[in-house]
Order: sequence, then structure tokens, then C-alpha cells
Amino acid sequence: MSDMDIELIKAQIDSDIQNINSAKDLEEFRVKYLGRKGIIAQLTSSIPTLPLQERSSFGQQVNALKNKILSLIDEKQKAINTKTPESKGISCDIGMPGIAQELGHLHPVTQIIDEVCAIFNRMGFSVVEGPEIETEYNNFTGLNIPLEHPSRDVFDTFYLKRKDKLLLRSHTSPVQIRVMKSRKPPLAVVVPGRVYRPDAVDASHSFMFHQIEGFMVDRDIKFSDLKGMLEIFAKGVFGKDIKMRFRPHFFPFTEPSAEVDISCIICKGKGCSVCGRKGWLEILGSGMIHPNVFKHVGYNPKIYTGFAFGMGIERIAMLKYGINDIRLFFENDLRFLKQF
Ligand code: PHE
Repeated sequence: MSDMDIELIKAQIDSDIQNINSAKDLEEFRVKYLGRKGIIAQLTSSIPTLPLQERSSFGQQVNALKNKILSLIDEKQKAINTKTPESKGISCDIGMPGIAQELGHLHPVTQIIDEVCAIFNRMGFSVVEGPEIETEYNNFTGLNIPLEHPSRDVFDTFYLKRKDKLLLRSHTSPVQIRVMKSRKPPLAVVVPGRVYRPDAVDASHSFMFHQIEGFMVDRDIKFSDLKGMLEIFAKGVFGKDIKMRFRPHFFPFTEPSAEVDISCIICKGKGCSVCGRKGWLEILGSGMIHPNVFKHVGYNPKIYTGFAFGMGIERIAMLKYGINDIRLFFENDLRFLKQF
């Protein structure tokens, strides 16, 4: 090897480096010059064959050449890293819109809750929520539900720890007790939330569903106030043409009590399979708050009167949209949910 060779190699390096366009080219270049059997290695291994007086200067030249190659690789590496996709040979339109994430929307149960709460908000009701784990007292005793009542049975309520008297609330009515114990009348409140009952799951039963409770307490609240407000609610949700009827019923926490039906929205009252040929659909329970409930929360039943009602949200949604299976709400099947 001679100085001449070194000059030739330098020229070769200069032309090779021009043709490098990718990380792959650069690696080939590195191996060609710096690899184990590369040109620098060959030059280095030739040193002992040189006349003694040439070895040192030749060694220095080889070293300088190696450093030049290293710095060229470094420069080239930086240039490759900052290349645009186009210059790397990848075709890419940076003005093209990205892949948009699909936006979800509110669950149909939430939509009905919002719709019903909005109707009552306009009539002056505020929204309050209560805990899903309740005391036996708030869920039953405070609501005038006697110990022997079948709903207090373990087959009808999920008890957590019997000794702590805690349970999963079986209705939203215990929030009546919470609100009335912490506030003085006048009050008008709606309470949306989940409730739990150990029912076998089928097309019309679920161990968990949603209710909206509503109640109003003041001096001189009358049954006719209940009727008027429920009519505004029912017509708001189901349309102006529906008829309503109040059927006498029994609830321990209201007296008198009534179940409320609307004329069947499918057959308009003529009778069909949805309404069981009755022409009417039950939508909620209601009544005037029982004086014993007022006593439990410390209100004087001689001064105050009030009404309360409670409805199942899934049932309202099923009637409104013609859904025939409650399980659809909880299966998270997008083909169902996307329809609302
Ligand atoms: N809590 C009752 C139920 O779950 C409904 C109801 C609420 C009835 C308020 C009357 C008054 O069936």
C-alpha cells in the first residue's frame, strides 16, 4: 500500500458518499470501509509489511482516513434522519385529513334521564343524587315499609352485610328520606339513579335498572298538582296526543297512591300485543307522601303535604322507542346503541 492507494481510496469515498440515500446504503458504506474485512482493516493489517521508516506516517494517514469516514457517516446519518417522507421515497400527502376517531354519544338511558330531568327542571325541580348503597332504614323503615313487607325479604333485596343493615337500594325513594332530613320545605326534587333487585334476568327484568324519583313538599300541595305535573311530563316525553289515567294502588309511603297509565302509543288505545290488548301502558307509581314518612324526617304532617312519584327509565325508553328487550340496554352492542 502506498500514498497513491490512499489518494485513490479518498476519491472512492467521496464518490460513494454521494450515492448514499438511505440508512441501508449508509450501513453498506460503513461495512465496506470500517467492517472487519473492510478497507481500513486491510490497510491497517498491511502496516507490518511496510519498510520501517514508512510505517508511522502511513499509520497516521490510515487513522486520519478512518476519522474522516466516521465523521462522514455521522453527517450522513443526521441528513437521513431529518429527511421528509417524500425524500425517503415514501409517498405521503401531509394535507390529507387524519383518521378521525369515531365519536360516541349518550346512552339511550342517559338521554331519557336528561329529557325527563329537563322537563321537571322547567317546573322548578332540582336534581339530586343519592348513594346506591343504602341503609335499611332509608330504603324501608323511614318510608313506612313494615318489617314484614315482602320487599324486605332477602329474595327481593340485595343485602350487603345484614348486621350493618346495608343494602343495594331497591328503589330511588330512600333519597326522599335523605333530602327531607337535610332540608326544610318548600322543596321540589328529581332523583335519577340505579336501583337493584335480585330478579332473574329476562326480556323485561334486570337485576339493575334506573329510576327517576320525584317529590314536592310545601304547605298546600295537592293531588291535583301531582296530576298536572305528571301530565306535562307524560305529554313532553310521549307526545301531546296521549291520554293519562290514574289507577288506585297501594304504596306504604304514599296515601292515597296511584299507578299512572298512558294510552298505548302503538295502538292509540285500541288494544295490541304491546299493551296486552288493554289499550293502556303503566308508566309509574305515585301518591301523596304518607304522614308517617313526614314524622320520620321531622316534618309536621299537619303543616306540610307533598307528592312523590317513581318511574323506571328503561321502561319509559322501551315504550318510547318500541324496544322489546331490556337486556339490549346493558349488552353494549353498538348496532343497538347507534340507533339512538
Ligand atoms: N318506589 C316505588 C317503586 O319502586 C315507586 C314510587 C315512588 C311510588 C314514589 C310512589 C311514590 O315501585
